[in-house]
Amino acid sequence: MSAALFHPFVLGRLRLLNRIVMPPMTRARAANGGVPTAMMAEYYRQRASAGLIITEGTQVSRRGQGYAWIPGIHNPAQVEGWKQVTAAVHAEGGRIFAQLWHVGRLSHVSLQPNGASPVALSALTAQGVQVFIDPQGLGPAAGAGRKVQHSPPRALETSEIAGIVDEFAAAASHAMAAGFDGVELHAANGYLINQFIDSGTNRRSDRYGGSLANRLRFRDEVARAVAAVAGPECTGVRFSPLTTLQGAVDDTPESTYLAAARMLDEIGIAYLHIAEADWDDAPEMPMAFREALRLVYSGAMLYTGQYDRERAEAAVAAGWADLIGFGRPFIANPYLPRRLASDAVFNRGNPAGYFGGGAEGYIDYPTVDEVRSSVSS
Ligand SMILES: Cc1cc2nc3c(=O)[nH]c(=O)nc-3n(C[C@H](O)[C@H](O)[C@H](O)COP(=O)(O)O)c2cc1C
Repeated sequence: MSAALFHPFVLGRLRLLNRIVMPPMTRARAANGGVPTAMMAEYYRQRASAGLIITEGTQVSRRGQGYAWIPGIHNPAQVEGWKQVTAAVHAEGGRIFAQLWHVGRLSHVSLQPNGASPVALSALTAQGVQVFIDPQGLGPAAGAGRKVQHSPPRALETSEIAGIVDEFAAAASHAMAAGFDGVELHAANGYLINQFIDSGTNRRSDRYGGSLANRLRFRDEVARAVAAVAGPECTGVRFSPLTTLQGAVDDTPESTYLAAARMLDEIGIAYLHIAEADWDDAPEMPMAFREALRLVYSGAMLYTGQYDRERAEAAVAAGWADLIGFGRPFIANPYLPRRLASDAVFNRGNPAGYFGGGAEGYIDYPTVDEVRSSVSS
C-alpha cells in the first residue's frame, strides 16, 4: 500500500483520513425547492471514507440555478436539509465541503424567478450547450429531465455584481451553519466565476472586463468575501484552466491561472482544485504548469480528472499533488478508498442514472462485501 495516498493529510485545521477526495458531482436528486433529502444523506454517508467529500454544485441563489433538481443553500429549508447530510458524513468520521456555484448564463427561463432571462456578464449564448429542465414539475424520480438549449442571457449591470458577491458570502455562512467543514468556490467548467475569468466569455468594458486584473476581480471579490465568512483555512477554489467545457476558453490559460493562484495565495485559502480532463478530454496539464502552480501557491493542490490508483500515487510521490479526486469511480463505488487499497473489483457506473432519478444508480451500488458474496454464492 502506498505510504501517502491512504494516510492522513492535514488540510487547514482539518485532519483528513486520507488524500482521496470525492470531487463535486451534480446528481440532481433534490426535493422541490432545492432541498436536500434523506436519500442524499445516505449517498454521501456511503462515500464518507473519502478524506474529503466536496458536494455537488449548490446554487447560492435562485438565479444561480442551471438545471432541474439541484440543491440550493440560500434558505432555511435547504440549510435544514443539508444538516442531515453533514451529520451522516461526520458520524462516519468523514469531512465535507459544500461546492458553491452560480451558473450565470448556463440556465433556462423555466428555472429562473418569474421566468426571467439568466444573467451573464456579456449577452453571449454558449452554442450547443444544453441544460436539463422539468417544466411540468414531475420531480427527479421521473428520470433525466428534458434537455434544451440554455436561454439567451442578459448582461449584468455593474451595479448588480456586488449583490452576487453578497449571495456567495451568505451561502458560505449558511454552509457553515449547516455543519459543513468548509466551502469550495466553483470557478470552473464555464459557470459564472469562470465566465468572468476567461477571455472567450468576458466582453465587458467596465472594471470587470478587459485587462487580466479586471477579469480576475469578481473571483477575487467572491473569494475574499467567502473566506472572511468561512475562514480562509476552510475555503477552496476550483479552476479548469485547460478544459473547454461549456464555452469556457481563455487565450492564455497558463498566465491567467498562475495570476489567479497567486492572488488566492495572498488570501491563504486551504486548497486549489484543478479540474483536468472531464467529458471533453482536455489536454494533460504540462508539467511546467503544475510546477509553476506549486511555486506561486503554497496551500494544498488537489487534482481531479481520470485518475486511477497508479496515476494518483505517482502524482503524490512526484510532489505536484497533495490530494487526488476520483469522480466517476466514487459514483459507482461506495467505500472507494477500501477498494483502491485492496485492488478490489470496481463497479461500473451507469451514466443513465447520473443526473436525476431515484435510488437506482444512486445508493444501490454494491459494496465490496456484497460483490464478494455474490461471486462466491
Ligand atoms: C455526473 C457528474 C456530475 C458532475 N458535476 C460537477 C459539479 O457539480 N461541479 C463540478 O465542479 N464538477 C462536476 N463534475 C466533474 C467532476 O468533479 C470531475 O472533475 C470529473 O468527473 C472528472 O473526474 P473523473 O474522471 O474522476 O470522473 C461532474 C462529473 C460528473 C461525472
